Amino acid sequence: MSIVADNEDFKKRNDNVKAEKIEYDRNFENSIRPKTFDAYIGQSALKETLKISIEAAKKRELPLDHLLFYGPPGLGKTTLAGVIAEQMGVEIKITSAPALERPRDIIGILMSLKGGEILFIDEIHRLNKVAEEILYPAMEDFVLDMTTGKSQTVKTMRIPLPKFTLIGATTKAGELSGPLRDRFGIVHRLEFYTEDELSQVIKRTAKILEIDIDEKGAHAIAKRSRGTPRIANRLVKRVSDFALVKYDGKINEDIANESLDLLKIDEFGLDTTDRTLLRLIIDKFDGGPVGIETIAAAIGEDVRTLEDVCEPYLLQAGLIQRTPRGRKVSPETYRHLGLKSPQTVEQRGLF
Ligand code: ADE
Repeated sequence: MSIVADNEDFKKRNDNVKAEKIEYDRNFENSIRPKTFDAYIGQSALKETLKISIEAAKKRELPLDHLLFYGPPGLGKTTLAGVIAEQMGVEIKITSAPALERPRDIIGILMSLKGGEILFIDEIHRLNKVAEEILYPAMEDFVLDMTTGKSQTVKTMRIPLPKFTLIGATTKAGELSGPLRDRFGIVHRLEFYTEDELSQVIKRTAKILEIDIDEKGAHAIAKRSRGTPRIANRLVKRVSDFALVKYDGKINEDIANESLDLLKIDEFGLDTTDRTLLRLIIDKFDGGPVGIETIAAAIGEDVRTLEDVCEPYLLQAGLIQRTPRGRKVSPETYRHLGLKSPQTVEQRGLF
């Protein structure tokens, strides 16, 4: 077998492993997704507003206004869309912007919708211009404007669509074009979860998965879950595996902490990538500011992963700050990493 074939074979196998992992994650997440507002923990202000909008839509016998959810990944945007569909008693079709590359992808999905249904588009900030242009009349007037022919002979056709609700989700509301953002009737930011809320999420998941966990064990995991239910749910599984192999399967505070230490997740919930990023800014760039591209290249991570996955929590925890000249760390970062904070020029008495 040639090297090229070998590489292709390896890539194929690797892609298969990745696809299986995504499939496994999706199945795992689906099995524990809450289906009702009562089961959905946290985001209480948002839940209250949504309940009213749903009630009103039902009274008017109209679909719900188009909704945009934004905020860091893993806070339950897709889950909430599923709860809304359940509550409205309608079907939901789930897709994401990168899957709507060609005009026929978005046209196909819009034409497949039935009256009242919900279309959920994840990562909606990544929608291309053509797809956006198709969406505008669909969202506003529930029509598809199709053009046929070329220049002189171009004809437009209006195809009516059933009334539907679009729920868009994005980690980057700022990257959404103005005209698209303006077409959402309801725009909401999802907040990081408190430790108590995460602890409830963990106990709920443990119950579904028949994992034995006590109150303090749940809190220990919640504390290191970066305010994010998706992370909390993954950690419960990992800690449960550890408890099963090393102990009798039951999770208490000590076992949770021992397992999380082994996973190199610290008491702030930071993992090796986060700590590498912070140490890089401190050790190589004197605490910053330094551009995100430089950081990404230095630690071998993709800029998008850093911006979408690592940064939101580090920013919220006050461990990095965004400045026009790049990212910098804070005195808190030095404290957290057990380092001495550098003295300012004034402290050194140079002036
Ligand atoms: N799993 C993920 N997000 C959740 C939430 N908000 N409430 C309950 N379980 C969850």
